[in-house]
Amino acid sequence: MSNHSESWGSRVGLVLAMAGNAVGLGNFLRFPVQAVQNGGGAFIIPYLVCFLLMGLPLLFVEWSMGRFGGSKGHHSTPFILDSMAPKQFLWKYIGVFGIFTNIAVAAYYCYLESWTLGYIWHSISGTFTGMDRGQVAGFFSDYTSFDGYQNVVFWVFCLALNTYVLSRGLSGGVEKVAKVGMPLLILFGVILAIKGVTLKSGVDGAVYDGMEGLNFLWTPDFSTIWTPKVWLAAAGQVFFTLSVGMGSIQCYASYLRKRDDIALNAMSAGWMNEFVEVVLGAAVVIPITVGYFGIDGMKALVAEAGGLGLGFRTLPYLFQQWGPILAIVAGVLWFGLLFFAGVTSSLAMGTPVMGFLRDEFGFKRTSAAWSFGAIVFILGLPTVLFFKYGVFDEYDYWAGTVSLVVFAMFEIILFAWVFGMDKGWKEITRGADINVPLVFRFIIKFVTPAILIGVFFGSLPGIWDAIVNKAIHTEIAAATDGAVIAELKRKIFFVNISRLLLVAVWGFIAFLVYKAYKNRTRDGRFTTNDV
Ligand code: ALA
Repeated sequence: MSNHSESWGSRVGLVLAMAGNAVGLGNFLRFPVQAVQNGGGAFIIPYLVCFLLMGLPLLFVEWSMGRFGGSKGHHSTPFILDSMAPKQFLWKYIGVFGIFTNIAVAAYYCYLESWTLGYIWHSISGTFTGMDRGQVAGFFSDYTSFDGYQNVVFWVFCLALNTYVLSRGLSGGVEKVAKVGMPLLILFGVILAIKGVTLKSGVDGAVYDGMEGLNFLWTPDFSTIWTPKVWLAAAGQVFFTLSVGMGSIQCYASYLRKRDDIALNAMSAGWMNEFVEVVLGAAVVIPITVGYFGIDGMKALVAEAGGLGLGFRTLPYLFQQWGPILAIVAGVLWFGLLFFAGVTSSLAMGTPVMGFLRDEFGFKRTSAAWSFGAIVFILGLPTVLFFKYGVFDEYDYWAGTVSLVVFAMFEIILFAWVFGMDKGWKEITRGADINVPLVFRFIIKFVTPAILIGVFFGSLPGIWDAIVNKAIHTEIAAATDGAVIAELKRKIFFVNISRLLLVAVWGFIAFLVYKAYKNRTRDGRFTTNDV
């Protein structure tokens, strides 16, 4: 099979691509909403603790796993994990998660990413001019309801763009987009954040100062610090935002050379993500919305339609309050930054799939890229067609939340306890351009696995509720209108089907891993886990 050669063009490019992998829609839409839903200032302490005790250690682990696997010729998690425990049957199938998650998240994520292109277009063409809030919100419902076909055009264009960039390779495609996209994203974010926090009551129709929103997010609150739900939400956000537990970091790192630094690179990319999330992500949506609706009004909007509610249904309306020119500029900056955030993450979701097809089945780069595009198109179609039945949210829950925790839990056990911390520490520190504090050795061996196992078992009741569709059944029990009940029952149908689809995708990837393993055995291609 192909021993494909691919490499990063420069260290700056690598760090920007890794930061781009992490910085995504989650930083600007998911983080603020998670914070609001979990008590504002009450969220921030669990979030920071989870970042230090799970996020950073997992970054070290995933970067070093990737570089290790890459040195043995593997670029996706099934055989990266297998190479760390060569004679054990289980790990390559755990590695299936690291391909599955990327495909399933990309399936809904690219659709969301494509809305940003549609909204840039509509901001420039003045669609929102003169609309009241209800009309802007209604526009979003129409846009995603599949009536106008515009959403499909932007979606297909967005998929084709991702595929094209992937087909250009790491240094010729992914890295170039990161080098342009990341600085622009930060520039756009800084401009909007300054506007958000300097919003003054009485100016441009604002009723409150933007700072009120920021204070709400940043005033620590110890009263809910022992609430498990807040901790689960914080852990989930740390995973999603850093892209840990996905398999994409391992893939990017597998294209490093054996002595390349990973410690400083991992820290740089991780902290850059946190800057964009807690500084910029917190300073745009919430301060601007609070400026016009107050804390309670903003909470009501979040309850109504989450992060998408604020980002797509509300902000375009609020931008209109700043006058016609600034409304266009703000629309382009906001949706432009969301686009760059999204595309640098979706590209990272494509590379493990391509790495797998190329390593194991000898695909050429272009055919691997187009295969990824086609798979995402097929799996994404239900999220586009049946968006209103919750298919999109279903993918997000299973692939973007549960799967990350499960995979991260297994990989850290593999790294710290099967591969072993002696070898593991050697991997983390080899070629390091910083002294990695020794305390991380202890944290990776004991603390992170213990918390992850705790988070996993703590999530089980919620997972069970999701499996039996408890929330929808509760809505059905409360509903009196026959039409509403019929619609909710239809929702259960679509949700169940989409779950089966996801299970089938997981099974199919596991089958491909089995085939690849058989091919390896037939050809006598074995690896050892010597460092
Ligand atoms: N880490 C990516 C995000 O935050 C997936 O959107």
